[in-house]
Amino acid sequence: MNDAAKQLIRDAMAKASASQTASAYAPSNIALSKYWGKRDRARNLPLNSSLSISLAEWGSHTQVVPSKDGRDRVTLGGEDLSLDTPFAAKALKFADLFRGEDGSAKTPLWIETSNTIPTAAGLASSASGFAALTQALCGAFGLSDHLSEAQMSLIARLGSGSATRSLWHGFVRWDKGTQEDGSDSFAQPLNLQWPEFRIAILPVDVGPKSHSSRDGMNHTVATSPLFASWPDQAEADCQAIETAVRAQDFDTLGALAEANALAMHATMQAARPALSYLTTESWALLDQLWQARKEGLQAYATMDAGANVKLIFLGRSTDDITHLFPQAQVIEPFKTL
Ligand code: DP6
Repeated sequence: MNDAAKQLIRDAMAKASASQTASAYAPSNIALSKYWGKRDRARNLPLNSSLSISLAEWGSHTQVVPSKDGRDRVTLGGEDLSLDTPFAAKALKFADLFRGEDGSAKTPLWIETSNTIPTAAGLASSASGFAALTQALCGAFGLSDHLSEAQMSLIARLGSGSATRSLWHGFVRWDKGTQEDGSDSFAQPLNLQWPEFRIAILPVDVGPKSHSSRDGMNHTVATSPLFASWPDQAEADCQAIETAVRAQDFDTLGALAEANALAMHATMQAARPALSYLTTESWALLDQLWQARKEGLQAYATMDAGANVKLIFLGRSTDDITHLFPQAQVIEPFKTL
């Protein structure tokens, strides 16, 4: 079966010029309405649409340079990686989409990436990493003028589903699409400003994840009896969350985002064997938040495939949040836009 992303690259390549150095930046993102479960694992095609907020200056800078010494090289945060490390292997496999998967006449590349996400925030960077790598590869192979951002988002999806949403700042919606070749499964920005919108990361466990989100979602889809209700509920949540964002109805948005995240975690806890990313410390933070909310705090939580808790709130609650949660790392998603 033909793949839409690969076809886009082939078509653009036919018009493109020789390879050159190119660099790109992409922000990381946090889903307010989660992507959890694939209908096609090879293409990262989701079972439901999702909606995220990008993390402004927290993201990945990537430069792609045609290598001078004829060998591939991958550098992360200034350190040269052995090419058989998972990070280097994944980056080079993705680059093969652009330079030929059959190994013949490959252009040797130096892929240099650095993340601006504080390590202490414990946020994975595959979303910003693959989004920045897609844009840098498009630049390096002269495809940037031949592909739209939406088409680049479709290509970034092959690296990691959540990368689909990291091509833009602000709120971004990834429509699940219905086509088998993935041609209608890409993201689009909502193109709206909400300067008061804030996110805080409450780091709980900043080490590597016990299970990747990929393994976690595949295991949940395969074994959790609660998963059956997820795709329809998640699709409805995504729609309702988009409506709340457009109306800048913060409490509706927050309540929906928190319920959506907890429902996703419930599907995992029912998996066999159970999968739990949240720890007692995560639950303690949620209890603290829920208590403060009873007392009037307007803030809501969301959690991904890790123990960290992320809060969403509006600028006027910042002092309350940093007082209650001194460890909070506050992000202003619209500050630099
Ligand atoms: C819980 O995008 O990391 O963060 O497509 O397999 O690379 P792959 O998965 P990934 O999954 C993200 C899962 C999530 C929810 C979300 O970001 O929507």
